[in-house]
Amino acid sequence: MMVKRAFSLGFVWFLQLISSIFCIVDRGQFSPSFLFGAATSSYQIEGAYLAGNKSLSNWDVFTHIPGKINGGGTGDVTDNHYYLYMHDVELMGSLGINAYRFSISWARVLPKGRFGEVDPVGIEFYNNLINALLNKGIQPFVTINHYDLPQYLEERYGSWLSIQMQQDYTHFAEVCFKAYGDRVKYWSTFNEPNVTLTLGYLSGVYPPNHCSYSCNSGDSEIEPYIAAHNLILAHASAVNIYKKKYQVKQGGMIGIVVNAAWYEPLRNTPTDRLAVQRALAFDIAWFLDPIIYGDYPPEMRQIVGSRLPIFSEKERELLSNKLDFIGINQYSTLYVKDCLFSPCDLGNPRGDSFVQLTPERAGVPIGDSTGNPMYYVVPYGMEKIIMYFKERYNNTPMFITENGYGQTSYPGTSIKDLLNDTKRIEYIEDYLEYLNAALRQGADVRGYFIWSLLDNFEWTYGYTLRYGLYYVDWVTLERIPKLSAMWYKQFLNEEKTLEQEGSGITTIHKL
Ligand code: NOJ
Repeated sequence: MMVKRAFSLGFVWFLQLISSIFCIVDRGQFSPSFLFGAATSSYQIEGAYLAGNKSLSNWDVFTHIPGKINGGGTGDVTDNHYYLYMHDVELMGSLGINAYRFSISWARVLPKGRFGEVDPVGIEFYNNLINALLNKGIQPFVTINHYDLPQYLEERYGSWLSIQMQQDYTHFAEVCFKAYGDRVKYWSTFNEPNVTLTLGYLSGVYPPNHCSYSCNSGDSEIEPYIAAHNLILAHASAVNIYKKKYQVKQGGMIGIVVNAAWYEPLRNTPTDRLAVQRALAFDIAWFLDPIIYGDYPPEMRQIVGSRLPIFSEKERELLSNKLDFIGINQYSTLYVKDCLFSPCDLGNPRGDSFVQLTPERAGVPIGDSTGNPMYYVVPYGMEKIIMYFKERYNNTPMFITENGYGQTSYPGTSIKDLLNDTKRIEYIEDYLEYLNAALRQGADVRGYFIWSLLDNFEWTYGYTLRYGLYYVDWVTLERIPKLSAMWYKQFLNEEKTLEQEGSGITTIHKL
C-alpha cells in the first residue's frame, strides 16, 4: 500500500515536471462543449465471447486459426470489460473525460443477424453501460460496427460481398437506434471501412482472409470494390432510417469514421504531388465522396474503370442523406512515391492507387518510430489531414475519433517502462497542438478521443502492442494508470483537484 502510494506520489511529481517542460496545449484553448474522450471497440476489450446467447463473430473465428495473430492472442477474454465495465466506467469518471467511444458487438445483439431474434442479454449489457456512463456525465459516442460481425452472415451469404448485407446492417442499426437512441446522441455507422475492406479482401490479413494476389482465395481485383459498395449503401440506408424515423425525436448526430493517414510527396515533383492526391482518394474519398457527393472520386474512376461499381439513380437518392459528421482516426504520416508515371516496385498486393508508401526519405525517417512499424510520430499530419477534410468536404463537422501511441510489449518488457509512457504524453500534446492550429483556421472539429482507454487486443498484433492510458495485466486483469492517464486527468481538470491517491500534494495548478 505504502509502496503504491509513494509510487503514485512520485508519478504526480514527475507529471508536474514533464508538463512544465513540455506543456503547450491546455483544456482552456478548446470550447467547454468540445468532447474529450477515450475510445475502445467491442472485440478488443469485451471478452466474454460466449456469454449470453452471443454467436461467434468473424474475429472470434479468425483469431482461433493458428498463425493469424502475433503471439496467438484472441479476444476470448482480453480486458474482460463485459464483466468489469462498471469498474472501467469508474476509471473514466476519475479521468474526467466527457465522452466515451465504444462499439456494439453485432453478434451479441443479433446472433443470427436478421434471421434470428434480438438477444435481450446483449441489449441489456449496452443499456447498463450507457446508463452508467450517463450517470457519470459521460456522453456515449457509439460505433455501430467496428470490424466484428456475426460469422453466421459470413457463412450464409459472404457478408459484405452480398447485397443482402445492406439489409442486415440496416436492421442491426435500427435495433440500436430503437434500444439506445433515447440516450445516445452520437452514432457512427462504421469504423475504418477503408482498413477492414483492404485488409480483408486485398491483403487478406483480416477476415475473411481473401487475397488472390498473394494467396488463392477470393478475387482481389474486384472484391474490395464490391464490399465497399455494399457498405457505403448500408451506411446510407441506416442514415436514411435514422433521419426519417429517429433523429427529430432523439436529437442525435450520425456519421462514419475513416482511417486517415496524411501523406507527403517523397520528391518535390508534380507526379509525387499527384500521387499524394491519389493516395488520399483511394483511402478516404473512396468512401466519403459517394456519401457526400454521390459518386466515387474521379481519381479512382480513371484507374479502376469498370471494376468500380456504378450507383443507380435510386442509390444516389439514398446517398443524398449524407451524414452529420466525419470521424477521423489520425495516427501517422508517410511519404508517397508515384508509380503511375515513374517505375517502381509496387510490391504485392499492389492495390490500384499506384503509389508506394515509405516512412523514409534518403534514409531519414519522417518522424520517430512507434510500436506500430507503419506509424510514425508526425504531429503536423493532424493539421494537414483536418484541413484536407475541411476543404474537400466543405467543413462538415469533424471529430478526431482516434489518436494514440502504441508501445511494443513482449513477455519480459519492463512494466516500469510501459507505465512511464512519456513518449505517449508528448505525442498527444503535440498532436493536440496541431489540432488546435486547424481549429484556429476555422476547421469545425468538435471532439478528440484517445485510442485507447485500456491496453487491449490489437488485431493482428494481438497483445504485443499497447495503446492504453491504463496498463492491463493480462493475468490478473488489473488496470494500472500509466503516466499518460495522470497527464490526461490533469489536462482535463486543470483547475480542479487531482484524485486523492496520496494526501498532501494533490492540487495541480494550471502549468
Ligand atoms: C484503428 C482501429 O480503429 C482500432 O481498432 C485500432 O486498435 C487502432 N487504430 C490502433 O491501431
